[in-house]
Amino acid sequence: MTTSQDANAKARRVWEKMAPRYDRDIRFWERIWFGGGRHWVGARVEGRVLDVAVGTGRNIDVYPADVVITGVDLSPAMLAIASRHAADLGREADLREADAHALPFDSDRFDTVVCTVRCPSYGQPGSRSSRRNGSRPAPSNGYTPASPD
Ligand SMILES: C[S@@+](CC[C@H](N)C(=O)[O-])C[C@H]1O[C@@H](n2cnc3c(N)ncnc32)[C@H](O)[C@@H]1O
Repeated sequence: MTTSQDANAKARRVWEKMAPRYDRDIRFWERIWFGGGRHWVGARVEGRVLDVAVGTGRNIDVYPADVVITGVDLSPAMLAIASRHAADLGREADLREADAHALPFDSDRFDTVVCTVRCPSYGQPGSRSSRRNGSRPAPSNGYTPASPD
């Protein structure tokens, strides 16, 4: 296994375990830490939207009705919740398992790329210090996710 496969396997294990309680936990942080942050994002997306590390799909609530939603995540358990959430909201969304660092799309496929709460940087050399410095390492396929944090 390569370092990045190891890191992804580890991240997947963590998020598979976290999935059942993610919505409850993040709701608290949404209130005290980044109140309004998701609406900030929702007001800026347009067209074909790629939500990288979509998690349980909490951004879907704030996406305008006319955007086309694609979401990727490493964790099938997070994606299963996102899928139910989209259905509950009556939204169509192409949700699939994929690594943010090896996205299975052409780089001109989307109009907006979103990554919220914590952009995945596991396995990227130097990524933790890059995040502390406020910079965002571009994934290897040319996507540069934008986020308000
Ligand atoms: C803190 S949650 C954020 C979820 C969502 N973006 C939100 O705003 O609530 C981080 C998510 O990143 C996913 N993740 C971590 N590393 C990833 C990677 N390399 N590729 C895709 N998803 C990844 C995890 O499975 C988890 O669902």
